[in-house]
Amino acid sequence: MQLAQILFTQGFGTRRICAGIVAKGLVRVGGQVVDDPHADFGTDELVFEVEGRAWRYAEQALVMLHKPAGHECSRKPRHHPSVLSLLPPPLRTRGVQPVGRLDEDTTGLLLLTDDGALIRRLTSPKQHVPKVYEAGTKHPVTDEQIARLLQGVVLDDDPQPVRAAAAERTGDTALRLTLTEGKYHQVKRMVAAVGNRVETLHRSAMGGLMLPADLPPGAWRWVDAGERAAIFSEGTGPS
Ligand code: URA
Repeated sequence: MQLAQILFTQGFGTRRICAGIVAKGLVRVGGQVVDDPHADFGTDELVFEVEGRAWRYAEQALVMLHKPAGHECSRKPRHHPSVLSLLPPPLRTRGVQPVGRLDEDTTGLLLLTDDGALIRRLTSPKQHVPKVYEAGTKHPVTDEQIARLLQGVVLDDDPQPVRAAAAERTGDTALRLTLTEGKYHQVKRMVAAVGNRVETLHRSAMGGLMLPADLPPGAWRWVDAGERAAIFSEGTGPS
């Protein structure tokens, strides 16, 4: 594929802008400046640099973000900046969007992709990808609350009880909850339904993919093939 076209597919701007970026000598392939927009490269495993920043060619983008508090998972945020503002422009131009939503005040692992089929697969209730949440609570967590979260609680919008796939107390006012659905404010509503209140909420894992300890709040990185497989490795449904 021609270099300018490669940049175009990766979200660096219009065809004309991409040809300009290359012609200005801002792109390196294999460490060498390539200023011919028509220069041809195979895209398999292709890594190039644009203005010193390394990019790996990806037919579709899948990244993880350590979502900080104070950001909304919406393209058109109302009160706080969008999580998309934490990503570089090429990813935004490619139209990546969050896989499901975390509340504005929730922190932790958020996946974003421009792969619509993957979003559907990851958010499908049939897939049962477990999501692990660490909640800090207002009142001490009791054994009875844990038992009720595991048995199932009725939320106000659905007569069917929802139950946690796993729940454990991790501190006096802290609990870890694993959910396989993704209902609106689900953790906060479930914890409220058993008589406690969530004060802080952090998602630590999706399927077998844990938020890496070295990814600070606000930072993002590409999801590699092994990590992508891990997301589905601990689902309880069909893969
Ligand atoms: N459940 C909630 O209540 N909030 C989130 O952000 C995610 C799950």
